[in-house]
Amino acid sequence: VLRAAGPGDLAGKRVLVTLGPTREMWDGVRFLSNSSSGAMGAALAAAAWLRGAEVTAVVGPCEARLPSGISVVRVVSAREMHEAALALWPGANIACLTAAVSDFRPIPYGAEKFKKKTAQGGQLGFDLEENPDILLNMGQSKKSGQTLIGFAAETSSLAENARAKLVGKNCDLLVANLVGVPESGFETSTNRITLLDRAGREESWPVLPKPEVAWRIWDHVSLL
Ligand code: CTP
Ligand code: CA
Repeated sequence: VLRAAGPGDLAGKRVLVTLGPTREMWDGVRFLSNSSSGAMGAALAAAAWLRGAEVTAVVGPCEARLPSGISVVRVVSAREMHEAALALWPGANIACLTAAVSDFRPIPYGAEKFKKKTAQGGQLGFDLEENPDILLNMGQSKKSGQTLIGFAAETSSLAENARAKLVGKNCDLLVANLVGVPESGFETSTNRITLLDRAGREESWPVLPKPEVAWRIWDHVSLL
């Protein structure tokens, strides 16, 4: 298979990437989700593959497409993503968790379509329960020699919130991006990130195309 004449620094490495949103069904046709495009994760997976890695992507429901040399595991819910990622983790050297996992799922109404006349007084409440934290569980089961890269989507106090996630989830590198601002986050082709690592390094990059952010993240991983 043809690959770029890049650094080849990931040759022989098994890389796991999660990407896209998760979808949590409520009734037969409705769900809780978010607008993650999967673009950042797809860029990271493609860049790792170009640098020689054997890449597996666990992909939630999104339009992102990956080079044919990458193995893809499609999932829908957070619990499916959790099961797939945890099963692959012991065989991986590096995992990069870009997925925008739904923190909660509705208590299912059932397989039928909910009828609006069932709601009383035109009001309807939802009960939600917490989903497993995939990154946290992978951090807790990380073995020496494995590298774990987390992402953080923040609307404020970027570096402070991100540092807490780096430490709290036992990551080696954390990539924080502001969401809800132009040129960065969920539905854009560019990203503005702050990168924090275990050695205490912190870097903020300008707005860059996601493929370039991805390439530079792998450059940084080779320095860890
Ligand atoms: N993550 C995960 N499983 C979850 C929630 C988050 O694996 N159930 C991962 C994301 O893929 C990301 C990192 O944890 O790599 C941080 O996600 P983020 O939503 O920013 O942080 P949370 O820990 O969920 O905290 P909060 O949403 O309250 O900021
Ligand atoms: Ca979250």
